[in-house]
Amino acid sequence: MRLWREDEADRIATARTNQATAHFLPFIPQPFTAEDARFWLRDLADQRAAGTRYNWCLADRQTDLGLGNLTLFRLEHGTGELGYWLHPEAQGQGLITEALARVSRWFFDEYAGQQLLIKTASTNRAARRTAERAGFSLLRTEPDKYKLATGPDALAIYELTAPVAPPAEEQDV
Ligand SMILES: CC(C)(COP(=O)(O)OP(=O)(O)OC[C@H]1O[C@@H](n2cnc3c(N)ncnc32)[C@H](O)[C@@H]1OP(=O)(O)O)[C@@H](O)C(=O)NCCC(=O)NCCS
Repeated sequence: MRLWREDEADRIATARTNQATAHFLPFIPQPFTAEDARFWLRDLADQRAAGTRYNWCLADRQTDLGLGNLTLFRLEHGTGELGYWLHPEAQGQGLITEALARVSRWFFDEYAGQQLLIKTASTNRAARRTAERAGFSLLRTEPDKYKLATGPDALAIYELTAPVAPPAEEQDV
């Protein structure tokens, strides 16, 4: 996990331009252009400097190719919210689950946060399953509170209040 680089704007643009993003995250412009990506990176740098948002690029360990994104935002009173996406080619490998576990450990152990939230559309099965696989529990659902491209959906809110155990290969034995 690392910061995105400015020269990855085209990669971010292709990752963000797809049917799932258009449907589940309709506030993101479609197509998401390289110029949109450069603006997004400048905004992230400003927010990181202000301590209001932390953002990570998930990169391939061997090739360093940018595969996806994890962002920690709405940081207030010990609570933070996580959002994430993967390039369509990088989905189905459990990458977000691993990244969620790593950032959760940093949030509770080093940042000294107390509660992490993931808020998603109730029908976004992939987002909900990744939250559950990372150890988050369903806190509540709120009818009609999530705006999809096709109309309102229930908002599903997941919570984590303690770090998840590291994978077996990272544990001391
Ligand atoms: C959410 C996202 C990052 C998950 O990607 P991923 O880690 O590759 O997820 P996977 O493909 O491994 O799927 C995770 C789980 O969801 C299930 N799933 C995936 N797509 C699904 C679908 N369309 N319908 C039902 N279940 C689905 C998988 O079967 C898997 O379940 P399992 O744990 O029981 O095996 C990815 O779908 C994405 O980038 N979506 C667009 C952006 C988005 O919606 N972000 C969420 C905002 S919080």
